[in-house]
Amino acid sequence: MNTKILVTGALGQIGSELVNALRARYGEEAVVASDIRMPPRGTDGPFDFVDCTNQRSLQEVIRRHDVRTIYHLAALLSAVAESKPQVAWDVNMGGLYRVLEVARETRCAVFFPSSIGAFGPDTPPDHTPQDTVQRPVTMYGVTKVAGELLCDYYHHRFRVDTRGVRFPGLISHGAPPGGGTTDYAVEIFHEAIRHRHYTCFLGPDTRLDMMYMPDAMKAAIEVMEVDPSRLVHRNAFNVTAMNFTPEELAAEIRKHIPDFKIDYNVDPVRQAIADSWPNSLDDRAAREEWGWNPEYGLAAMVQDMLENLGKKLKPVG
Ligand code: NAD
Ligand code: SER
Repeated sequence: MNTKILVTGALGQIGSELVNALRARYGEEAVVASDIRMPPRGTDGPFDFVDCTNQRSLQEVIRRHDVRTIYHLAALLSAVAESKPQVAWDVNMGGLYRVLEVARETRCAVFFPSSIGAFGPDTPPDHTPQDTVQRPVTMYGVTKVAGELLCDYYHHRFRVDTRGVRFPGLISHGAPPGGGTTDYAVEIFHEAIRHRHYTCFLGPDTRLDMMYMPDAMKAAIEVMEVDPSRLVHRNAFNVTAMNFTPEELAAEIRKHIPDFKIDYNVDPVRQAIADSWPNSLDDRAAREEWGWNPEYGLAAMVQDMLENLGKKLKPVG
């Protein structure tokens, strides 16, 4: 991979960890973080304020740093996008279009994270194939499908090296999630440690694919490093690592915190979004084409989350 890298949306749940992972691999000065928020004082490494919907700002930063690869993470997540669909279209589509245009002009490679949200109720819900029906019913999903197609178009039409994955819900102990439907799977750990009790906004049997953040970093880096001649697909590889319901996650947490209790106060908006997504993905294309192989399953993820959050959070009362 060309190693001068720009990360947009770098202060979010993924970006805050991806910047560190990329810097550990390629060197601190090789990775420019950017966002429309400012990083906390004392944060190391290059940072620029970049609104991804501002093409001039993108061009200027890419030329100044001689960027060769863009990890384009800036976007509104599913629940926020559903509450502000017009803004979501502007940021998710407008941002991606401008990133691709600048990539075309400057010959940069682009990583674009799609999502399980790119599927809809007509998609086969179990072991959802790599290539299948994509008729999402959320603005988030509409922008993800359109984004996948736009990335394919820029590759076929302009030979821009676009690549990407469809992430499931991501679980991490760093920066908080930014307003998605799978956020419960992070919040539950904070509440389990602090209050030994969590009220979940999705119903007990809502089954979704999930992934621990170290595996998400692995996917984002490996798909950009692989020899492109191995790729049949380019954009939007299904990737997954584990699969559970809130009830099953609570049962696994209870192995470490026996008096942990979960109850439910279902949010109809986020429940409807989750119900429109697959129960599980088939990620064989990623495994076959670039060797995708996640390290963390449910038990290992829960143990690591509780260990790491336990260093930061204290039980209340
Ligand atoms: P996040 O909400 O935590 O972070 C997004 C970041 O983008 C924020 O720091 C925000 O300030 C920034 N941003 C918003 N508007 C911007 C703009 N106009 N210009 C520049 N920056 C802007 O999101 P995340 O969880 O880190 O997700 C990153 C990407 O990965 C998104 O495209 C998301 O759809 C995708 N994804 C995330 C998950 C997940 O579970 N976290 C799953 C699938 C796909
Ligand atoms: N975790 C993301 C969300 O819930 C999935 O793309 O929005």
